[in-house]
Amino acid sequence: MRRKIVAGNWKMNKDFDEAETLIDDVVKGLEEEEVDCDVVICPPFPYLELATDGAADSELFEVGAQNVSSFDSGAYTGEVSAAMLASLDVNFCIIGHSERRKYFNEDNATLAVKVEKVLANEIVPIYCVGETLEEREANRHFDVIRRQVEEGLFGLDAADFENVVIAYEPVWAIGTGKTATPEQAEEIHAFIRSLVKEKYGDDIANEIHILYGGSCNAKNASALFAQPDIDGGLIGGASLKAEDFVSICRQAK
Ligand code: 13P
Repeated sequence: MRRKIVAGNWKMNKDFDEAETLIDDVVKGLEEEEVDCDVVICPPFPYLELATDGAADSELFEVGAQNVSSFDSGAYTGEVSAAMLASLDVNFCIIGHSERRKYFNEDNATLAVKVEKVLANEIVPIYCVGETLEEREANRHFDVIRRQVEEGLFGLDAADFENVVIAYEPVWAIGTGKTATPEQAEEIHAFIRSLVKEKYGDDIANEIHILYGGSCNAKNASALFAQPDIDGGLIGGASLKAEDFVSICRQAK
């Protein structure tokens, strides 16, 4: 049985004091509630150390970054390397979020390099895939997702690939309040798992975590998490409120 993962992607939200309060409130909530999943908090870079300190103290959650450089080190102003993240005890990193693909022109080839960099530093990549509304309406969603998965991840050997987490985030569901139905999400999750099975075999396909993201909230999480191929969630807006986020964590069993 795959233990579920719930990861909160704060995106570019909160100032330092607000970040401190939110982490404290999530910890309090996780202490009170019965939670049986792995919890990951992905704050903006400047709050990573705050989060890893909180994670070390409470042992109730782990910490992820939202992006990483495709370079190792040196004259790349403004970049943050995988080794820097590892030195802060960050153990997850979101890679290829649709907002990175759209606003920062990140393509599958660059993302494949980022995936390699974090794995080389023992950080788990949460590699995001998902189609736009236009692509779904043109019935191209399976092709788009296949390419994102193949080009971003299938260069890895099996020993590396088994450490990857995949997140299916339909672009039309992100921040729109328009969630994929559990059936729509399950169809894609099962498709992704079938691609993994073809490439890496049954054992790895059964072990790999595939998270759902896109307007997942305290009201719809249970139904999504009940699907056989949905192994947890990547939560945007609802991760900014401790009560909602903890409620989603509690629903991941
Ligand atoms: P929302 O939950 O706000 O739709 O965002 C999802 C997301 O992009 C998580 O990475």
